Amino acid sequence: MAEFTTGTLEEGGDALVVGVGSDRAWDEGAAWVVERLGGRLSGYFDAADFSGKPGQSIKVPGGNEVPYDLVVFVGFGDTPDDEAVRMAAGTAGLATSRSATVVTTLHTASADGAAAVAMGLLLGQYRFDAHRSKPKPSLTETVRLVGANEADMDAAGRAVVIADAVALVRDLVNTPAVDKSPETLAGVAMDIGEHTGVRVVVHDLEACREAGFGGLLGVNAGADAPARMVELWYEPEQADAFVAFVGKGIVFDSGGLSIKPAAGMETMKTDMSGAAAVFGAVQAIATLGLPVKVLGVAPLTENLTGGSATKPGDVLKIRNGKTIEVLNTDAEGRLVLADGLSLAVEYEPDLVIDIATLTGACVVALGEKIAGVLGTGDAPDRVADAAGVAGERIWVLPMPDDYRKLIESDVADMKNIGGRYGGTMTAALLLEEFVGDVPWAHIDIAGPARSGEVDGYIVKGATGFGVRTLVAIAESMTSS
Ligand code: BES
Ligand code: MN
Ligand code: ZN
Repeated sequence: MAEFTTGTLEEGGDALVVGVGSDRAWDEGAAWVVERLGGRLSGYFDAADFSGKPGQSIKVPGGNEVPYDLVVFVGFGDTPDDEAVRMAAGTAGLATSRSATVVTTLHTASADGAAAVAMGLLLGQYRFDAHRSKPKPSLTETVRLVGANEADMDAAGRAVVIADAVALVRDLVNTPAVDKSPETLAGVAMDIGEHTGVRVVVHDLEACREAGFGGLLGVNAGADAPARMVELWYEPEQADAFVAFVGKGIVFDSGGLSIKPAAGMETMKTDMSGAAAVFGAVQAIATLGLPVKVLGVAPLTENLTGGSATKPGDVLKIRNGKTIEVLNTDAEGRLVLADGLSLAVEYEPDLVIDIATLTGACVVALGEKIAGVLGTGDAPDRVADAAGVAGERIWVLPMPDDYRKLIESDVADMKNIGGRYGGTMTAALLLEEFVGDVPWAHIDIAGPARSGEVDGYIVKGATGFGVRTLVAIAESMTSS
């Protein structure tokens, strides 16, 4: 991972990244280059139709006039905010991944620009090369933020910690299901524990039985690999508050006996993105040393079709004693989350948040780039506010009381599917049965957990969505 430093434009380097507002409004670095490269630039800009709009970038050879081999101009539009700078830094990161020393003035464009550049650049350079015969890792060793002060460098350092966690989540989600059994992922949690001091408790299959995790075991019944329930505990000496995060950890979702069509399964290794986001958030919060007690819970299993698989019509008993009739084995996320939430609220946190690739309906409602959030009291608004600070896109959906009847069962306390419509809300209404009196929010990341395209700091495949919001929630609960 690249190091961030401060310095001057004149010191030089391999690549210089400068920002351009709409209609070629130069930032400090761009003005400095334009002054030195002068005439030839406008030709390049005209040929590439480059005006400084968000998403635009152009690479120019430095030549003899500036001490850089490569100059990258990136657009960030009118009045850039931190997110515009993060996106521009992501684009620039990709363009400079072969350069050892990258120098930039991009951070001068927005309020928290140094952190935004660190986050955007590192995430834009992310690649998942574990299964390529010719890996092409980023060669960037040093990123110099021109003129940055101590506060800027401190903010950048914190962003690096979070970017590191996002990269971990992307790696875990991109990993093929065959390489991430529940046992393997529990091992990842233990590794996190080892290098951060977080205490990790792993419930193996036998312990899951004893604990009465009937939802998790019901989903696990069709799989050979045994389930795990993982608890990560970050308990700082001084804590202003206590938050619990619960992440859906379906390492592969075939749908179970209510099997998915082939196309619907292609990306279902992504179905543990919630659990991965919880791992990443706990790692980042512990590394940052935030004064908030955090419990991370991850129910981990595959959803497969083995001879002992749960069948439509079966009834499962969840940890808190409530029963669920399984009418569709593909609505499995809520079953494992029911146990995870039941467990988390037993510890009486001030707030519990679950995060899950839960419903295709949420993608229909909000598209692929925006997560949904639902819950009780002001918890959803608090999550939405934290997401806004973090630069993740989340929208609050309602919890209509009268929709509760859509999940009434003829034989059990509830059934695991609602009607044809409003699937994100009926899923959330089921989850609400497992949170007791603890203020709760549920984040549905079925859309934004992965991306089909490169866009700024978002790369193809896993996005690591949710880590930044969860960390921001913990930050919002500190009294300082
Ligand atoms: N993991 C899926 C949801 C999903 C769908 C995530 C598409 C990402 C992209 C979840 O387990 C699921 O299968 N949900 C069903 C629920 C239905 C059977 C009530 C769905 O959304 O179709
Ligand atoms: Mn499913
Ligand atoms: Zn699923």
